[in-house]
Amino acid sequence: MARLMWTDSFALGITSIDEQHKRFLDALNELLDAQDASGQACLASTLIDRLKAYAAEHFHVEEGYMQAFAYPGYEEHLMEHEHFLDTVRHFEDACANGGVESAKLLDYLLNWMAQHLTGVDRQMGRYLEEYLR
Ligand SMILES: [Fe+2]
Repeated sequence: MARLMWTDSFALGITSIDEQHKRFLDALNELLDAQDASGQACLASTLIDRLKAYAAEHFHVEEGYMQAFAYPGYEEHLMEHEHFLDTVRHFEDACANGGVESAKLLDYLLNWMAQHLTGVDRQMGRYLEEYLR
């Protein structure tokens, strides 16, 4: 499964968020590497826990900024974050049930990441940059 490499097209121009996004992407890529190495990312419980913890922490930061600066797209953005966390839960459920759907769910997370960074995160970045630059 291909890694998702960081490119400038993902950058929002807000250093603190861009650095978090790179680490968030790294955490997902490590899980994808585990899938490639053993065919079983389900076995990489430390990496799964790290991705979950990192996603929760990073989403919390973004949501805090959006609320602090009354971002109008907050609710829609929140739903995307919830959707990511739900999918990670589905991934864990799939693992608990033999891992049949786990690779498909990882692929979904990969696509989510690319679309989220270039979609709602970019829109949020344009709004926040006037406050955070
Ligand atoms: Fe986001």
